[in-house]
This record gives sequence, structure tokens and C-alpha cells, in this order.
Amino acid sequence: MGDVYVFDHPLIQHKLGILRDKNTSTKDFRELVKEISMLMAFEATHNLPLKDKEIETPICKATVKMLDGEDIAIVPILRAGLGMVDGIQALVPNVKVGHIGLYRDPETHLPVEYYCKLPSDIASREVFVLDPMLATGGSAAAAIDFIKAEGGKKIIFMCLIAAPEGIEVLHKAHPDVDIFIASKDSHLNEHAYIVPGLGDAGDRLYGTK
Ligand code: PRP
Ligand code: URA
Repeated sequence: MGDVYVFDHPLIQHKLGILRDKNTSTKDFRELVKEISMLMAFEATHNLPLKDKEIETPICKATVKMLDGEDIAIVPILRAGLGMVDGIQALVPNVKVGHIGLYRDPETHLPVEYYCKLPSDIASREVFVLDPMLATGGSAAAAIDFIKAEGGKKIIFMCLIAAPEGIEVLHKAHPDVDIFIASKDSHLNEHAYIVPGLGDAGDRLYGTK
């Protein structure tokens, strides 16, 4: 079974607190999602392997450390996952970006696919699937189905807020996938929204409500 890692760094928790506030503006919301994603990527990559490399500084020859291992692909789930891309791309070198378009049917709460374009070398990359919200888990599980169908093997799911119900569904569907979150919230309400959550992440990112 995959593990759940809760990133409780004080900066992440402080920014998440502001993000949840219904009075936070769309502009601030976008910036906070970017900043939290960058901080989470910093934490999530702390075990990446390093190798020695010989270089020359302006002073002398030196052995420096460089990343050694598979490159990373990030795959945001549209729309809200897009808000997490810039922060991670700014931090992690050689990132390729795939996109999976899914929305939740408002009646059934089941994911409906409308777009999928992944890097052709996805099979040889470590894949970070991005979405701020893991609610019922349907969208995350479906996105990871697509990635595996295209050959993706080493996959992690990164989100800001997860409901216990979503974690369970994702673990059952993809027991090999670790889940990185900033908060595990209480439960889902009758509309399958996370409580206390932050509302609709896509609408708050793009000002559509
Ligand atoms: C939200 C969110 C996730 C999904 C989570 O997207 O960004 O993709 O819901 O819910 P689930 O775990 O129950 O599947 P939404 O369907 O609102 O689409 P949007 O990003 O286009 O607004
Ligand atoms: N999607 C969201 O954007 N928020 C929720 O709380 C649940 C699903």
C-alpha cells in the first residue's frame, strides 16, 4: 500500500490557512497555490539521488553534486492542477508537462475525461500527478489509469487538501502510488466537497464563480 506524507512545514501550513479563507482574492489564491506547490516540491524531492561531477570553478577544479536519476514529468489534472505547475517547474530541472482534462459530473460526482496529452517518454520518468483537491478520489484514480496505460510506472500524487474518503479510494485503485498532501481534512459533505476544504479550487483559481 502507498504511503501518505503530510507536509506540515510551518510555511506550507500558514499559506494553506490563508488559501482556505473565503475572503482571499483570486490573485492571492493563485499565488498561494503556486508558492505552496513549490514548497511541497522542495519537500517531495529531498531524496532524489545525486552523483559526483567534475567541473572547474573560476578558482580550481572541483567535484560537485548533480541530480542523478530519472527525470520528472508533472501531470496536472485540468483545470485546477494547472495552478500547481509553475511553482514546481521553477524548482525542478528538466521537467516535462503532460495534461489530463477531467471534470466531475455535478450529479454523479464521477470524472468525465475531455483531454489527455502526455510526454512520449513518460515510461522513463518519475511522474508527479498534480491536483489541489482529492475529494472522492475518482479524478485522481482515473488520471493515474491514463498514465499507466501510456506506460507510466513510478507515480506519486501531490495535492494540497485530501479527504480521508479520497485517500482510501486512491490507495485501493493504485496501491503503488504514494500520496503527498498539505492537509488531511475531516470528511466530504453531501455534495462531495471537502470539509472544511477551500471550496471549488478551479473556480477560486480562475474566478469563474
Ligand atoms: C476538482 C478538483 C479535482 C476534482 C476532485 O475538479 O480539481 O480534479 O474536483 O474531486 P474528486 O476527487 O471527487 O474526483 P473539478 O471537477 O471541479 O474540475 P475543474 O478543475 O475543471 O474545476
Ligand atoms: N473539488 C474541489 O474543487 N473542491 C472540493 O472540495 C471537492 C472537489
